[in-house]
Amino acid sequence: MRPKVSIIGAGMTGATTAHWLASLEIADLVLIDVVEGLAKGKALDLQQAMPVIRKDLKITGGTSFELTANSDIVVITAGLPRKPGMSRDDLLAANADIVRQAAINTLQYSPQAIYIILTNPLDVMTYLAMKVTGLPAQRVFGQAGILDSTRMATFVAEELGVSVENVHCYVLGGHGDEMVPLSHISNVAGIPLDQVLPPEKLEAIVERTRKGGGEIVDLLKMGSAFYAPGVAVAKMVEAVLRDKHLIAPVSAYLQGEYGLHDLYFGVAAQLGRKGVEKIIEYPLTDNERKALQRSAANVKENIAKLKI
Ligand code: 2OP
Repeated sequence: MRPKVSIIGAGMTGATTAHWLASLEIADLVLIDVVEGLAKGKALDLQQAMPVIRKDLKITGGTSFELTANSDIVVITAGLPRKPGMSRDDLLAANADIVRQAAINTLQYSPQAIYIILTNPLDVMTYLAMKVTGLPAQRVFGQAGILDSTRMATFVAEELGVSVENVHCYVLGGHGDEMVPLSHISNVAGIPLDQVLPPEKLEAIVERTRKGGGEIVDLLKMGSAFYAPGVAVAKMVEAVLRDKHLIAPVSAYLQGEYGLHDLYFGVAAQLGRKGVEKIIEYPLTDNERKALQRSAANVKENIAKLKI
């Protein structure tokens, strides 16, 4: 039997996540959305694409959480996206209820599932999902760092004219404008970024990475990015289902790492069949450590607004 992945929210991000996942042919997929017909229609369309790409999997969709029964992984993408001028934190009140309901309603049908959260503000929504499901933190984590890091890698590869395959970027911290792109851990074919790029170019790339989501929101005018977020989730799902022990930037629950406690925060973590297997702590410069603390303070402030 193929594993089963349910995606809650069949908007641009949810549907695009399904699209990337379908091409990996690693699980049957279920799309759920409150809008009548949306999930069912997109699932049917995607299913009908499978003979062209020669992939065998079942893709279904609907409004009922019952369809998600016995999922191995539940991905929560449901929620409002940003509009131009908004920060991710502005979405907190509106999206908290949506994520709470999605988490509780899926858990009753899939008590063994691993949860991957994508709804913004990401670190806060992941914390909420862990608290309301009562699941071990190992089984609940959020996608943000792979997205932020692939944005940075794109800019670095463009700047240097090298293959994206040679570029390894690591962006830690909360998924907000205070995120912390690491300049000496990130590297091009093993050479630290701060040795291959002049400071002003590096600073420009760091700044563009921090604002990368907003750049796309401003261009799209309606909605936020979905291709790169979707493929980032697919990468995490694959790491879990194939038990890859993949080390990637993930929003994981911290209990003392980097001196931080009781929050979800972007760190390098190892992902496998049980979820987060290990958190890796990088040696940081004083400035990076301070930047992480600023970012953590912001996430903590927003977690406090949840009043849970
Ligand atoms: C982004 O950074 C939507 O937060 C997401 O594009």
